[in-house]
Amino acid sequence: MATPLNIGMIGYGFMGRAHSNAYRKVNNFFELKHRPVLKAACARDKDKIQAFADKWGYESVETDWRKLIERKDIDAVDICVPNNLHCEMALAAAAAGKMILCEKPLAMNSAEGAKMVEAVEKAKVANTVWYNYRRVPAVTLTKKLIDEGKLGKIFHYRANFLQDWTISADLPQGGTGLWRLDVAAAGSGVSGDLLAHCIDTAIWLNGSIANLSAMTETFIKERKHTLTGKVEKVGIDDACQFMCRFGNGALGLFESTRYARGHKALYTFEINGEKASIKWDLHDLHRLQYFDHKDEGRLRGWRSIHVTDGDHPYMGNWWVPGLQIGYEHSFVHHVADFLECLAKGEPCQPDFRNALGTQQVLDAILDSAKKGTWVDVNKG
Ligand SMILES: NC(=O)c1ccc[n+]([C@@H]2O[C@H](COP(=O)([O-])OP(=O)(O)OC[C@H]3O[C@@H](n4cnc5c(N)ncnc54)[C@H](O)[C@@H]3O)[C@@H](O)[C@H]2O)c1
Repeated sequence: MATPLNIGMIGYGFMGRAHSNAYRKVNNFFELKHRPVLKAACARDKDKIQAFADKWGYESVETDWRKLIERKDIDAVDICVPNNLHCEMALAAAAAGKMILCEKPLAMNSAEGAKMVEAVEKAKVANTVWYNYRRVPAVTLTKKLIDEGKLGKIFHYRANFLQDWTISADLPQGGTGLWRLDVAAAGSGVSGDLLAHCIDTAIWLNGSIANLSAMTETFIKERKHTLTGKVEKVGIDDACQFMCRFGNGALGLFESTRYARGHKALYTFEINGEKASIKWDLHDLHRLQYFDHKDEGRLRGWRSIHVTDGDHPYMGNWWVPGLQIGYEHSFVHHVADFLECLAKGEPCQPDFRNALGTQQVLDAILDSAKKGTWVDVNKG
């Protein structure tokens, strides 16, 4: 019988739902020593959090996150709230000796992130950050292929994350979902929200980023604020592009925007090595495009690998070969890995320290865009 792990969930929005779904499913598909128990859900509005708890099967609710963290019957705190609350909640959870699963980006900036790393390391509590795209089987397979040397020396890393939902000037800033447009709640715009994913994957696959040159743009300068009702300055980056040099000498090119009409969540990457290249696209997330220069010349070309076979990462736990899984499963895999690491007493990557690396790149992006110059990524 698996040991119960009591979860205290803070937030019931997009990620609150994605994580709750993962906790509910994980033990049906993975053999694990622990079993998440949906002990308590927390948000400020009592009726709304009670409705969420009833729907997803949480045993109880709290309206004050500090009370949730103090509860003796909570083992792990899951932080699914806007970015400006991550640090304060994580520091309190670490001080209370709770394990922490924190949404990305780790923090508003790396100064906050460093405090969070110090707190979890001092408290010796298990911790992880939900950069879930690492656990899409095709992305995990990419990591394995690179580590096995199939690509050889890597020359180029290219990634995009494109959306189109903020083009209307009538869209307000602030409040559920729209806190992303409010710099006080988000810390940054598409860089912290979208590029953070691309950077985490890139660092994981290709190592650290040494220096970079970025530009950002805020296309709509003022928007009504949902909370104040007033038209206020927009402080986030609506679009961000940067080029960089990786520690291994590879060149990187990254772009994200919420103004690419026609694109909803087009996260793509392409990696070119001396022996082979790889491409991946979130809209077709179960496929990996692979070009191997070793192939016989007459037959050489891009292969489309359907990453659904039993020997593909995570896939042996799901259906039968050929049947694909989707977005939600990356969160199930993250929970499965967290629980497996817990049983082994190992850190679940990305842990806070690892996610601080992405935060340092995010800081460098905003710094470079402001100064209009190349900057080194501060690994301090
Ligand atoms: N891993 C991913 O792919 C991914 C995707 C989306 C969002 N995120 C991250 O998840 C976090 C939440 O984003 P979301 O899309 O779920 O946002 P959301 O707006 O859908 O939900 C935010 C939730 O936070 C709650 N909340 C706000 N202030 C609170 C407080 N003081 N006390 C308790 N609850 C409070 C709100 O009630 C709401 O339920 C952000 O950090 C975001 O960057 C990650």
